[in-house]
Amino acid sequence: MQTTRDKRNYLDRLPRVSAALEPESASSMTAIVQDRYGSADVLRFETIDRPTIGEDEVLIEVHAAGVDRGTEHLMTGLPYLIRFAGYGVTRPKNRVLGFDVAGIVVGTGAQVTRFALGDEVFGIAKGSFAEYAAAAADKLAHKPANLSFEQAAVAAVSGITALQALTDIGNLQPGERVLILGASGGVGTNAVQLAKALGAEVTGVASSAKLDLVRSLGADHVIDYSRTNVTDGHLRYHLILDIGGRNRVSHLRRVLTRAGTLVIVGGENGNRFTGGVGRQIQAIALSPLLRQRLTTFISAEHHEFIDRLADHLTAGRVVPVIGQRFGLKQAPQAMHQLAAGDASGKTAIIVRPEGARHS
Ligand SMILES: NC(=O)c1ccc[n+]([C@@H]2O[C@H](COP(=O)([O-])OP(=O)(O)OC[C@H]3O[C@@H](n4cnc5c(N)ncnc54)[C@H](OP(=O)(O)O)[C@@H]3O)[C@@H](O)[C@H]2O)c1
Repeated sequence: MQTTRDKRNYLDRLPRVSAALEPESASSMTAIVQDRYGSADVLRFETIDRPTIGEDEVLIEVHAAGVDRGTEHLMTGLPYLIRFAGYGVTRPKNRVLGFDVAGIVVGTGAQVTRFALGDEVFGIAKGSFAEYAAAAADKLAHKPANLSFEQAAVAAVSGITALQALTDIGNLQPGERVLILGASGGVGTNAVQLAKALGAEVTGVASSAKLDLVRSLGADHVIDYSRTNVTDGHLRYHLILDIGGRNRVSHLRRVLTRAGTLVIVGGENGNRFTGGVGRQIQAIALSPLLRQRLTTFISAEHHEFIDRLADHLTAGRVVPVIGQRFGLKQAPQAMHQLAAGDASGKTAIIVRPEGARHS
């Protein structure tokens, strides 16, 4: 936990922050912005106005942000389907990129009761690649004291997806065998650790270069997808999390127990229009006809899940995996690296180096 002294020291400086926030739109900040969809080349480092906040929102002094696949989808506007989910059909509605965030509360809307000025928080914001970000209060939790800002900044988006996939959706039980396809990435590195914490026997699938990472997270077995077709194996799993790989549903069913569950979390390289959501539709349509349960979900971004994740982080059952770190100006490089598939675990964007509290 944050000590009272830490918080008092910080609050001592808040008059400057609050004063700066009074005429909020007049206050500036640097941020990574985009005016059109495209590769990381569309991103620019610019000085813009700080965001304003609504009654149920919080203004965060961003210390670090996290990079995830959802951020890439928002940058490219692909698959096109996501543009119709309220993000902007021809251009991004929100110019500032980034969801995962960790920082300090420097402003609260009138309806916000869970947070106060000076609180250290993490969660999901509306544009975290910036010095300041607005976030819905119900998408934030208090930062576990044992985590640095950069660790907390990469935790929420992938962590709550893994948590829901294994528990709320996958109903994983101790002693069960779980196959995690895409174990070296953002969601996968969380899923391996959580599944072990839940008492499962874990098999993690990734590329050769990242197998040591997956092993180090506690996986009992690892499979290199470039050498072995996992769906040809004899072993059957009680639960399969398909996070990467785009295997056919019929092939995945071959390595599922008779009453096992397949949870399709995601997978890149689908078509430009729907992202290959056909697999998910097929799974849902087939499932009622089978003893096996085939399902998919969209992660719920409520603080209830972030708080549950925070319990695991506080207890050390999950340790965020930071593969690479970049400064705010270098965020386009981070996005290039993610697009190339070179990232391991999560990439952190360091907005304010540890210990530095500006305002
Ligand atoms: N349903 C939801 O609500 C939700 C939420 C968050 C994310 N997602 C989706 O979930 C997917 C993964 O997200 P992420 O952030 O974890 O991405 P990520 O960090 O890029 O990880 C992707 C993983 O897939 C693996 N992979 C790639 N090709 C594979 C193959 N042929 N077979 C098996 N594994 C393969 C990668 O392994 P190597 O790096 O070793 O090649 C890596 O472990 C994305 O499609 C994302 O959009 C869905």
